[in-house]
Amino acid sequence: MRTDLTAALLFFASSIRTAVAGNVTALGGTWTSKSDTVVTGPDFYDPVGERFLEPRLPGTSFSFTNDGYFEEAIYTVVGNPTKPECPTALIIWQHGTYTLYDNGSMVLFPYESDGRKLWSDPCNSKTSIYTRYNQTELYRSWEIVLDDYRGQYRLNLFKFDGAPMNPLYLTYNPPQMLPTTTINPIQSATPTSTTAAKIKRSLMGLQASLPDATTNLDFWWYTAAGMTLVGGVGWYFV
Ligand SMILES: *[C@@H]1O[C@H](CO)[C@@H](O)[C@H](O)[C@H]1NC(C)=O
Ligand SMILES: *[C@@H]1O[C@H](CO)[C@@H](O)[C@H](O)[C@H]1NC(C)=O
Ligand SMILES: *[C@@H]1O[C@H](CO)[C@@H](O)[C@H](O)[C@H]1NC(C)=O
Repeated sequence: MRTDLTAALLFFASSIRTAVAGNVTALGGTWTSKSDTVVTGPDFYDPVGERFLEPRLPGTSFSFTNDGYFEEAIYTVVGNPTKPECPTALIIWQHGTYTLYDNGSMVLFPYESDGRKLWSDPCNSKTSIYTRYNQTELYRSWEIVLDDYRGQYRLNLFKFDGAPMNPLYLTYNPPQMLPTTTINPIQSATPTSTTAAKIKRSLMGLQASLPDATTNLDFWWYTAAGMTLVGGVGWYFV
């Protein structure tokens, strides 16, 4: 009897869990925020030319394949409360693999050498800071529902602390993505001259400048990556 009760409770618990991660369609596809201006894939980031194709308006996009790969594209404008005319912009791209856990969480594991971040503060600097970006992301839970109003599938992601992200809508299926394997493997701690030349060209394209051609780019990258945005500013995801 006791055993039966335990089994029943376990069954009950597992059906709740299923309901939490319940989804009306598979995750596979490209999901975009309302503005629809940011879409993963070659229209957002050019890994060969090492450059971002700056979207018209801020937004967020995630793509997933049903066999475990993801790609993420974010363009955010961060408001400056003391100088509203001086917002800063942040562009992030990364891809890699994802895991869906039984507890309803989703974790994105980026390829460490491929992610990129561009930060620009046009009021204070003519140059943008272009760095590597490698951030494992935990989403506490996720769900896919049918949004009756828009007549589209909607992906709700909940951050590590349970706070909801802005909703994403299924825009392309199959997904629009760059190759799902590592694009720019790190051969050694110091980038090869080809990479350095490529990055340097792209930095020049972004009007960024390096102190001199022999600078250890890796060091420079990670130093810049260590810079954090000042607290107290608002984050606007459209
Ligand atoms: C829910 O999503 C998972 C992961 O993408 C998928 O395996 C499953 O088939 C989906 N369920 C439905 C009903 O489509
Ligand atoms: C990328 O992030 C992972 C997980 O936090 C970490 O283990 C790894 O060392 C990082 N790689 C680089 C090159 O920073
Ligand atoms: C779910 O499990 C994963 C893997 O063990 C873990 O990283 C994550 O924190 C768990 N989620 C919650 C909400 O506890």
